[in-house]
Amino acid sequence: MDPTATLDASLAEIEAGFGAAFAAAADEPALRAAHAKILGRNGALTAALKEMGKLPADARKTAGQRVNTLKQKVEAAFEECLGALARAARDADLRATPFDLSLPGRAPAPRGHLHPISLVREDIFEVFKGLGFAVAHGPQVELEEYNFGKLGFPPDHPAMDMHDTFWVSPPPRAPNAKVLLRTHTSNVQVREMLTNKPPLAVVSVGPCYRCDEDMTHTPMFHQMEGFLVDQNVTLAHLKGVLTAFVERLFGKRKVRFRPSYFPFVEPGCEVDMGCTFCDGTGVAGGAPCRQCKGTGFVEILGAGMIHPVVFEHCGIDPEKYTGFAFGTGIERPAMLKYGIPDLRMMFENDVRFLAQF
Ligand code: DAH
Repeated sequence: MDPTATLDASLAEIEAGFGAAFAAAADEPALRAAHAKILGRNGALTAALKEMGKLPADARKTAGQRVNTLKQKVEAAFEECLGALARAARDADLRATPFDLSLPGRAPAPRGHLHPISLVREDIFEVFKGLGFAVAHGPQVELEEYNFGKLGFPPDHPAMDMHDTFWVSPPPRAPNAKVLLRTHTSNVQVREMLTNKPPLAVVSVGPCYRCDEDMTHTPMFHQMEGFLVDQNVTLAHLKGVLTAFVERLFGKRKVRFRPSYFPFVEPGCEVDMGCTFCDGTGVAGGAPCRQCKGTGFVEILGAGMIHPVVFEHCGIDPEKYTGFAFGTGIERPAMLKYGIPDLRMMFENDVRFLAQF
């Protein structure tokens, strides 16, 4: 048979059939299969293209144009059917899941804010940054040596009884290590002094853990710790810095320093300030103030001059340097600052309480 006639016959057959074949495809894969039968690697039109080589040279041009025109028609029909299938699928979807336009919209989520503990932490950092202190962080899972030993708690010293400690299993790579959840943030003193040389002025805030729970204690609580080391630092600097701290956080009020004992300071003291609930009068609502037990003062910090033993343990020459340290829980300052009557409210996550800050 004449190759031109053969080509004509196959083109005519393709032209007559593709529209119906595409229209019959019920979904996209079927449509693509029908398309491949014509324009795929073994498709009819692809085969016809290959046959063109056999045509006499003068017939090739017109044949080529016919093949191309047909190819464009097929592609256009294919695209159109593809679009129609997508629209049909979308219409079916919309009909299946009707919108109820009368339903109220979703209200934007109420805006959150920082927890009172975080607010006080930021306030504390602001005050100490203003006084030239740097902010540092220490690990919550700590070696006994850094939580107690280097701070001058001798092994089995009764001072450790004040810290009801959570012990942690040592890691496999150090089976003899004594590991605990830090009972105070004073470990930051040790870590900072071991890695940096004086002058140092550092403050830190973070979670601590003690195995007790009652009206005024939770097993997890927060402390702040600060210390300053330099030449010729005296108790007068301690008093000046801590008085400024109290006044900047709470406004002007009385501050009182009482002698006390902590193993890592000598001399040590406790710092009290005028009670915020009764404004230092000791009387609230005609009765003795319950927050300060009628004394007009509440304890706010432990502090003291850093013990020479701590310096020695941390590689700092106690003949050359002196310094002071201070620490406190931060739940209590938060309660005093915001007038929160019960410590446990901080951890109950009751939005009615939290929304008041
Ligand atoms: N670490 C002490 C505690 O948990 C608080 C404290 C007292 C820290 C005196 C100090 C300090 O740095 O000098 O009770």
